Amino acid sequence: MRKPFVAGNWKMNKTAAEARELVSQLLGPLMDIRGVEKVLCPPFTSLFAVASMLNDSGIGLGAQDMHWEEKGAFTGEISPGMVKELCNYVILGHSERRTYFGETDSMVNKKLQTALKHDLTPIVCVGETLDEYESGRTSEVVLRQINLGLADVAPASASRIVVAYEPVWAIGTGKASSGENANAVHGQVIRPALSRLFGEENAQAIRILYGGSVTAANASEFFQQPEIDGALVGGASLKAEEFAAIVRAAGR
Ligand code: 13P
Repeated sequence: MRKPFVAGNWKMNKTAAEARELVSQLLGPLMDIRGVEKVLCPPFTSLFAVASMLNDSGIGLGAQDMHWEEKGAFTGEISPGMVKELCNYVILGHSERRTYFGETDSMVNKKLQTALKHDLTPIVCVGETLDEYESGRTSEVVLRQINLGLADVAPASASRIVVAYEPVWAIGTGKASSGENANAVHGQVIRPALSRLFGEENAQAIRILYGGSVTAANASEFFQQPEIDGALVGGASLKAEEFAAIVRAAGR
């Protein structure tokens, strides 16, 4: 049995003061929900403030990215050790990083190796663009991202990885994938690829999340699907009641 997993990716939203306000609204409702792994991923500048509020809450904290080097002359970057001081999770290879900041599968792989070494739980994002979707290349693109991004990981560490399937055409567009379509990509493309890389048993333990316009209204359509183990939520994670309702749906 894979434990349901819901993470909120706040992206470039909320100052530290606003983050504290949102977390104060989220704490009670989220702490009441059992049986779901819950993670908040605010911007770097709010991690410290949020970390001190999450003590003993059972709610995890994640960064939205990190560099693969331990330290050095990398202006503007954050190291794995800096992330690990405050977080137990890190989002890697989000499509916005790939699209706007030139992140490649090989960079994602280096970050993944470092995250595992630092005992961070990596949430590795994959997904095809609208153009790739419309030209029927979803499997090809997602397979490449999985095979290169998750290369050279010891099978024994693989079950710690969380994969998020986020079709780019569904992100921030209000046009979510159907539960059925996402389930098919998870079950027919991603999990078989994980099985070839890490063996069937390890692949069965890996949580595969759906992301892209998840709301309180459509969340259960995804969570009902056997191959969807949770969600990576963007816009709806900025609203306390809405995000709590999504986490609740994952627990049912
Ligand atoms: P939205 O939920 O805003 O579509 O964003 C999804 C996402 O990119 C989460 O990482």
